[in-house]
Amino acid sequence: MIILGIETSCDDTSISLVKKNAKGFKILSNVVSSQIKIHATYGGVVPNLAAREHLKNIEPCLKQAMKEAKNPKIDLIAVTHGPGLIPSLLVGVNFAKALAYNCKKPIIGINHIEGHIYANWLDNSKIEFPVLALVVSGGHTQLVLMEKHNKYKLLGETRDDAVGEAFDKVAKLLGLGYPGGPIISQRAEKGNPKKFNLPRPMMNRQNFDFSFSGLKTAVLYEVRKTWGQSPVKLGLSPDYINDMAASFQQAAIDVLINKTIKAAKKYKVKNVILSGGVAANQELRNQLQKAVKKELSHVSFKMPEIKLCTDNAAMIAAVAFYKQSLKLLIREENKNKFFCSSLTPNYKKKPTSKQSWLHINANSNLKLFT
Ligand code: KG4
Ligand code: ZN
Repeated sequence: MIILGIETSCDDTSISLVKKNAKGFKILSNVVSSQIKIHATYGGVVPNLAAREHLKNIEPCLKQAMKEAKNPKIDLIAVTHGPGLIPSLLVGVNFAKALAYNCKKPIIGINHIEGHIYANWLDNSKIEFPVLALVVSGGHTQLVLMEKHNKYKLLGETRDDAVGEAFDKVAKLLGLGYPGGPIISQRAEKGNPKKFNLPRPMMNRQNFDFSFSGLKTAVLYEVRKTWGQSPVKLGLSPDYINDMAASFQQAAIDVLINKTIKAAKKYKVKNVILSGGVAANQELRNQLQKAVKKELSHVSFKMPEIKLCTDNAAMIAAVAFYKQSLKLLIREENKNKFFCSSLTPNYKKKPTSKQSWLHINANSNLKLFT
């Protein structure tokens, strides 16, 4: 089957065509149009500007994705319907509905976090359950236990900032621009991670929750101690920035790894998987892989290739395949013989015949867990 994925939850417009057959997944196209240049001026994503750009870019992205995939016949349309920025989500959801109506194809709403997790299934490697997923993005930091496809238990999450958000805010206060993750990791390569003694918030608590806002504040106080009240305007020295970037990055990585290993031991998982935009961080990838190998002898480790870590529509299409194969779709026929399918936002409950594709709504707080 061929699935058309649509992703517009934040500041990337993405359309992908993914083929799934007995051999596995094949990404036929995965077009991503980034808005970084526009939002960089403001130091972060401006929701209404993001929506305007999605509107402008979504049709060209569809055309390019179809062309690269050689115009295949589509069987199912999958669209991110949350969580995310409402103005951005609305563009994708309404575009997908119009497309489904026009092409008379079934449509399914997909949770963005679930998409990040399922980026790990796109390369067709065998992932045995139970699985522990560490989800690290600009909006979320969660440890999720999966006993099987479509069954999630939230073990812990951030109580304040997401880890990607902390990367972005620290980059801003060091005067490095937006988005912070890639710049911090580049600068950290040249710095000394032991130079500044930053806190590892909540690392020794007996739960799986995180907190990153205190770490960001600790960086701010440390910078002010040396450089005064308006450090960025003064212009920090390049060596100082490199050392601070490396020390901050290492503090964040230590907490993420510590909690992931503890959770993997407690729940006796067979696989640890990494996902979300921050999973593109090379140091986190290397160190988590090493820690799993060293501390969890019978556990495998998996992470998506870097370009599938940040927002993209192929991961959304991957989830859709598992949803339809689990028969979580309903079929409905309206007066015009127009077939469409939908999925309840609450994936644990099977949809009722009253639920229609028309009820796929953009939901900024959509949860994977009930
Ligand atoms: O998953 P994603 O693309 O969007 C959300 O769902 O939020 O994640 C974006 C986040 C941003 O905070 C960005 O700074 C971070 O991922 N990020 C990184 C790296 N590349 C992107 N963080 C650390 N290191 C990176 N190399
Ligand atoms: Zn994301």
